[in-house]
Amino acid sequence: MAAYLHGFIPEEQQRLMDQAGVLGYLIYPRIDFAGCKKLLEIGSGVGAQTETLLRLYPDLEVTCVDFSQSQIDRAKQTLAFAGDRVRFICQDATQLELDDKFDSVFICWALEHIPDAYRVLEGIKPCLLPNSKLWFTEVFNSSFYFNPPLPGLSKYYDAYNEFQRSLGGDPDIGANLGNLLLRAGYKQIKLFHGGFHLDQRNPEDLRRITQYWKGLMKSASSGMIDAGLIIEDHILAMEMDLDTISIDENAVFFYHFVQISATI
Ligand SMILES: C[S@@+](CC[C@H](N)C(=O)[O-])C[C@H]1O[C@@H](n2cnc3c(N)ncnc32)[C@H](O)[C@@H]1O
Repeated sequence: MAAYLHGFIPEEQQRLMDQAGVLGYLIYPRIDFAGCKKLLEIGSGVGAQTETLLRLYPDLEVTCVDFSQSQIDRAKQTLAFAGDRVRFICQDATQLELDDKFDSVFICWALEHIPDAYRVLEGIKPCLLPNSKLWFTEVFNSSFYFNPPLPGLSKYYDAYNEFQRSLGGDPDIGANLGNLLLRAGYKQIKLFHGGFHLDQRNPEDLRRITQYWKGLMKSASSGMIDAGLIIEDHILAMEMDLDTISIDENAVFFYHFVQISATI
């Protein structure tokens, strides 16, 4: 199994559950799996998004694919309520061997980690029914803008993205998904942007999201230290800068992810 930016420790698994709660209001309003019966979720992690999907679509059955057995073990706990509406496959998404057909696919914050995302898009095609609905939500890290300028956060963020690239991931994959889907032969590709443009008009949102961002940034810290990209002091500097943004009277926190829908 390839190295993975965030790791698999229990704290990280809980962070994924919390993240789904914090960002859910931005992710789900647009997504539409109405009428779908069998959904394939790639990079399903601990089942944090799966839980939402199963609750939003009571007739849906979900097949969760993740290459980490420890994520799947945690997902089995998360999704115990769904009984046989959910099944789990421990597989690398770049080498899919699925014995089923699906009418829908959901991928969230996973293609960014996979060295050959095009291969995943190719790999799922044979198991899709005609007119399948695909919804992907992925990062676009170059969209991040904050004010005031703070070197601790800037340097940490650059190192975080560099670390992800060094593992074969793509921190800007959201921006490139349109072309990837087109090249892989998908149709009716539509792109949407979602995210934050926060300032002191909404101080509580600003505080909540800067706190969330700290956790996201910190989730890669042990790998970044091992890779020689940061030292412990850089974590503290990043956290202090995010605290500064949350209270600065001229604070701006802007980030956009990309959502994409398509069919086959
Ligand atoms: C950031 S987590 C997102 C999990 C879930 N989609 C969510 O939003 O909560 C990314 C997941 O992708 C999985 N993953 C990364 N590379 C993979 C690969 N090549 N094949 C299958 N799963 C992979 C990781 O194990 C991890 O569980």
